[in-house]
Amino acid sequence: MTIRAVVAGAGHYLPARVVENAEFEKTLDTDDAWIRSRSGIERRHFAAEDETTSSMAAAAADKALKDAGCAASDVDAIILATSTPDLTFPSAATMVQAELGMNAGFAFDVQAVCAGFVYALANANALIVSGQARRVLVIGAETFSRIMDWTDRSTCVLFGDGAGALLLEAQDAEGTPSDRGILATDLNSDGRFRDLLYVDGGVSTGTTGYLRMQGNQVFRHAVEKLASTATLAMERAGVTADDIDWIVPHQANIRIIQGTAKKLGLPMERVVVTVQDHGNTSAASIPLALSVAHGSGQIKQGDLLVTEAIGGGLAWGAVVLRW
Ligand code: UT7
Repeated sequence: MTIRAVVAGAGHYLPARVVENAEFEKTLDTDDAWIRSRSGIERRHFAAEDETTSSMAAAAADKALKDAGCAASDVDAIILATSTPDLTFPSAATMVQAELGMNAGFAFDVQAVCAGFVYALANANALIVSGQARRVLVIGAETFSRIMDWTDRSTCVLFGDGAGALLLEAQDAEGTPSDRGILATDLNSDGRFRDLLYVDGGVSTGTTGYLRMQGNQVFRHAVEKLASTATLAMERAGVTADDIDWIVPHQANIRIIQGTAKKLGLPMERVVVTVQDHGNTSAASIPLALSVAHGSGQIKQGDLLVTEAIGGGLAWGAVVLRW
């Protein structure tokens, strides 16, 4: 017998404001055809002035709790993956804790940029299998619209805002690949690549700063590192690509998603793709994709999933889980 961290519910929140690619043609030397063909993005959501990472995270978490039939008081811990917390501190996770009316347990943020949700899942899994928590809300939420340089066409057309959440709960299991829940994780980072993707502000500058990215350099690392981390996680889980029902990748660029699926030997019919509607929502992209696919019935209980992500750091990783 073993303990597994099993998905009990999922939810997401997207701000009401939808911005189509054509919007950017008014202010930048860009066009819908370039954005669509180079990234696969068609539209993205941007937060309203009164919306924050924590307010969107709380809305997504509330839906995940309802989906699971649980109350906030049933939750032991909240892990919120974000690079755009409302304030430098306290953590956005503690703000979500207060907003949900959860008066016990503990909450903290995880900062691994676009790989944040994979890191958060691995941390939640460790808390659950070690018996330190029975139910953990794992959230990815971002307001990247607040760190965009709106004069930089190479970055500002790519990102969007939103939040997604999973409720994970401890369940007894056999300890085999047939179990539901998280079966394996793999995390990596390499700080030598910090200049490829970073924000040029923070405590050391006294400013919030703007996102800076050498997109084509990140691209060069992405497919290879994503395929190798996913392969390692599958090996650890005791499964092969043939067993996988769905790849749920970080939604940064359709060409990276296609390249990784091809390298793993999986057809695009088995890939969950939301990049066209959400853009790159960093740590929110995987839970958004999971919640949308769960809500539409695309992902069903018992399906075997591999999620993978790479972003600033560089930081990257993968999780294999049975829904
Ligand atoms: O989520 C975190 C990790 N991030 C990623 O995974 C992003 C990875 N990178 C990418 O998705 C792609 O590299 C981009 C979509 C960012 C760019 O695509 P690319 O095929 O790598 O293009 P590029 O950066 O090599 O730029 C090609 C050309 C350049 O013009 P020149 O130098 O060839 O004349 C750019 O100036 O495209 C130009 N360009 C644009 N043109 C029209 C850059 N941005 C735009 C734009 N509209 N918005």
